[in-house]
Amino acid sequence: MCPGVVIVMSWKDVDKGWGDQAKVWASIMEPRWWPEFDAVLRATDVGEATQYLDIACGSGLMVNMASRRGAQAHGLDASDRLLALARRRTPTADIQHGDMNDLPWEEGTFDVATSCRGIWGPNQDAVHEAARVLKPGGCLGLSFFAAGRESNQIGKAFHAIRRVSEHEIEWSQQLGQIGQTGRAEEMCETAGLIPGERQSLEFDLEGADIEHEVKAWMSAGPAWMAIQERGAEDVEHSLRTELAELEEEGIGVRTQVIIEFVVAQKPS
Ligand SMILES: C[S@@+](CC[C@H](N)C(=O)[O-])C[C@H]1O[C@@H](n2cnc3c(N)ncnc32)[C@H](O)[C@@H]1O
Repeated sequence: MCPGVVIVMSWKDVDKGWGDQAKVWASIMEPRWWPEFDAVLRATDVGEATQYLDIACGSGLMVNMASRRGAQAHGLDASDRLLALARRRTPTADIQHGDMNDLPWEEGTFDVATSCRGIWGPNQDAVHEAARVLKPGGCLGLSFFAAGRESNQIGKAFHAIRRVSEHEIEWSQQLGQIGQTGRAEEMCETAGLIPGERQSLEFDLEGADIEHEVKAWMSAGPAWMAIQERGAEDVEHSLRTELAELEEEGIGVRTQVIIEFVVAQKPS
């Protein structure tokens, strides 16, 4: 591939990357992000009867957590196979297959919308859509990796994937821009929202052992693209080598991650 050329998938192709390992994502990768989901749901005050939407909801753990808090929960994602799990988890929720840049809800529908690592640097249109479907006075909770993730432990997994995939080198730089100082806030302001102060949280992704850890990362979209370029064996080998350093005897593999988020309000 030519340097600087990034293949941007149509939303209709997203399921190819995210759906292949949907069961693995839902059972061993997604649950490890619960501290982020919990923090964003609390910061946006999701509770009894909140009209709530999770954008790029994946297999729907956050939708389920919102529903348990009493919210009228809705979710949207482009991967049908992840959504099958989301629907199974929370049958009472309204879960839609679609594109975050063209949400299938009326203007002013929701009190709260969230997106956890679903809206990235190039996705300004998705922030506009989130703002459109919020009620006046409603808020968007947007979470993402803190800038400089390359130097954090989580960066090891991304590094392992990037060193076998030219596509991921370019693409992950563009995605990660949302973490840069002021960038997420600027995206919210451009969409007419008023961002509050950026918040940060730190936790460990927990893996039972290195095989568990490799399996978890192999279920993520970025690994899929690398697998298309280099084959599963190379990607697995790269992940195993990089992440082995994080294994602790009797503890398992613990990977520190720093997440930041902003809560931005739609003017009343
Ligand atoms: C990093 S995952 C995050 C999923 C979920 N928020 C979580 O934290 O587990 C990114 C998600 O974005 C979804 N996605 C990618 N492009 C999309 C689009 N254009 N519209 C809707 N969903 C999209 C993928 O299917 C995937 O579920």
